[in-house]
Amino acid sequence: MSVLVRTVPVALEGRAYEVLIGSGLIDGAGSRLVPLFKRSLAAVVMDETVAGLHGARLRASLQGAGLTVHEIIIPPGEAAKSFAGLEHVCSALLDLGLERSDLVIAFGGGVVGDLTGFAAAILKRGMDFIQIPTTLLAQVDSSVGGKTAIDVRQGKNLIGAFHQPRLVLADLNILATLPARERVCGYAEVIKYGLLGDAAFFDWLEAHGAEVLAGAPEALMHAVARSVEMKARIVAEDEREAGARALLNLGHTFGHAVEALTGFGDAIKHGEAVGLGCALAFRFSRALGLCPGQDAERAVCALAAAGLPTRLDDLSGGPFGADALISAMRQDKKAEGGALTFILARAIGEAFVAKGVDPGDLHDFLVTEGAAP
Ligand code: GLY
Repeated sequence: MSVLVRTVPVALEGRAYEVLIGSGLIDGAGSRLVPLFKRSLAAVVMDETVAGLHGARLRASLQGAGLTVHEIIIPPGEAAKSFAGLEHVCSALLDLGLERSDLVIAFGGGVVGDLTGFAAAILKRGMDFIQIPTTLLAQVDSSVGGKTAIDVRQGKNLIGAFHQPRLVLADLNILATLPARERVCGYAEVIKYGLLGDAAFFDWLEAHGAEVLAGAPEALMHAVARSVEMKARIVAEDEREAGARALLNLGHTFGHAVEALTGFGDAIKHGEAVGLGCALAFRFSRALGLCPGQDAERAVCALAAAGLPTRLDDLSGGPFGADALISAMRQDKKAEGGALTFILARAIGEAFVAKGVDPGDLHDFLVTEGAAP
C-alpha cells in the first residue's frame, strides 16, 4: 500500500521526536518501529475495544518485523486511569521481564496514552514509550507533548509526569471506526488550535470542517497535521507550561468546571466540554470588551456547526449554579493563589493568558449565560 506520510518534528533538546501522520501507518508500524527496539520484545497496552478492532493488525505488523508481541488489554473507559489501573499495567509490564531499555507501546485513545505514558515514566525510573493514538482527540492533542497522568478522587490528571514519547504514529485510516461523537470531540480540539493561534486555519476549518468530520482523507490530513504542528511548536517552546503552553487550555477552565459538575461521565465528554468552553471563553472575552462580537459569533457558529454544545443550557442536568461553576474553576490545576486564570481572546487566532479574572465579572457573565445566580 502506498502511504503518504507527513512528519512533524517536536524539537525538544535531548528528547526530540517525530509525529508521523498518514494512512496505513499501523500496517507499516513494525518496520518503522523495529530500529528503536534494543531487544525484539514489544509490549503493547490497549483497551478491549481497540484490541478487538485493530489489535490483530498491529500484532501482525510487529511480528512481521521480527518482534515478539505481548499485549496488555485493559477495560475501556476513564476508570482505568486510576491507581488500581496503574498498578495493573505496571505489574503486567514487570511480569514480562521488561528492562529499562525496552519500549512500551500505547495503542489507544487518551486514557491508554495517559496511563501507559505514566507507567513508562515511573517504571524502572523511566522507560521509553511509543504513542499510536487511535482517536482524533489523541492524534491532535493527548499523544503529543508528554503530559501523562491518572485521575484521583480529588480530580482528573492530578497525579502524573511530563514524559515525552520516542515516536508518535497517527494513522488516519484508524479513525474510520471512530464513533461520530468521538470524532466531534476530537474536532473540538482541532478548532481550538485555529481559535487560539491561527486565524487562517480557522478560516479553512469554516470551509472544510464538514469534510474533516466526514473523514475525507485530504481534509483530515490537513486538519491533523496543522493541529500537531501547532502543538509541537508550542510544546517545544514551553514543555512544562510555564507560559505559552497554557494557551492549549483554551476552553478548558470553563470545560473542566462543567465536566466536574456533570461527574466526568458520559453526559458531557471532554471534547464536548472543550467545545462549550471555547464558546464561553469567546463570549466572556466579548462581554469583557476584549474581543469583537463578530469574532465571538464566528467561533460559536463553527463549534455549533460541528455539533458541539455552545450554551450551558445545551446540557442536560442544568441549570448549573454560577457559584458551583466558579468553585469548580478554583480547583483547576491552573489556578494560582486561589486566583482564576483563563485563556481569553482578542480575536480569532489571538488567545492570551488572563490571570486574576474578577470573580464578580465571571459571576455576572455566567448568570447572563443561564447559570443560576
Ligand atoms: N492538552 C493540553 C496540553 O497538552 O498542554
